[in-house]
Amino acid sequence: MSQTNTSTRPAPTRPVWDPLVRIGHWTLVIAFFTAYLSGDDLFNIHKWAGYVVAGYVLVRIVWGVIGTRHARFTDFVRGPGAVLGYLRSLFSGKAKDYAGHNPAGGAMVIALLFSLLVTTSAGMALYAVEDNAGPLAGIVTEETFAPLASAFGEEGEHGGHEESGAEELLEGVHKAFVYITLALVGLHLAGVVASSLAHKENLARAMVTGRKQVHEEA
Ligand code: HEM
Ligand code: HEM
Repeated sequence: MSQTNTSTRPAPTRPVWDPLVRIGHWTLVIAFFTAYLSGDDLFNIHKWAGYVVAGYVLVRIVWGVIGTRHARFTDFVRGPGAVLGYLRSLFSGKAKDYAGHNPAGGAMVIALLFSLLVTTSAGMALYAVEDNAGPLAGIVTEETFAPLASAFGEEGEHGGHEESGAEELLEGVHKAFVYITLALVGLHLAGVVASSLAHKENLARAMVTGRKQVHEEA
């Protein structure tokens, strides 16, 4: 009731991340690493974890258009100038505050979603071509990739079974984008740590509670 001594109170916070963004983020983290660790073996787990990733990415893209204020792409997608400006302000120790994603974080969200989309699409296309199964079965076939695949390489033998050019191509794209995603995740975590230090706020916790400190600029 009394508002006299505010200096000992914790910094005021406000809700920023809605439940879809928060629950979706941690589901994505678990599903991504489950798919990664089950890549070679346990194929059903791999497939289903991958479908969770793909499903969430599609939901998140729609939510980026119709979702809550700070979930929308228009709230955090900025040009290269703003991204570089934020990075410069981060290194000079005067990082500008944003209520939602900062411009560099926003660029990383787009890069991660794109990389996950290619990874999972290539995985599903590979499954369709190899086993004629999964959501792309009948939609994507050897013929779909015939022109590209013949340029990519000849048919060959791998792990005891004949592999077509299309399979080699899709496996190459699938694995390459897994590693591109992993590299982005490394940068993502470095960005979360750097921004958390610069703004003196635990941003990973904010992804759990949904609340961030109130700043003048926000
Ligand atoms: C334990 C590891 C991780 C931590 C602590 C973490 C933390 C965070 C934090 C704090 C944010 C919000 C950034 C901001 O304040 O602007 C965020 C956003 C995001 N992270 Fe992570 N992250 C982790 C792993 C991952 C992984 C593995 C992926 C994807 C494979 C990922 C994808 C994303 C995406 C797509 C967003 C945007 C959220 C949205 O707007 O929907 N994160 N993460
Ligand atoms: C982000 C999600 C995914 C990640 C991180 C991921 C990761 C991987 C990795 C690391 C491998 C290589 C295993 C190895 O040869 O060492 C692999 C192979 C494979 N993945 Fe995925 N994957 C994902 C999603 C999917 C999806 C959605 C599908 C389709 C249902 C799929 C189908 C396959 C297939 C068919 C292989 C080849 C298995 C083989 O014949 O050796 N993946 N994946």
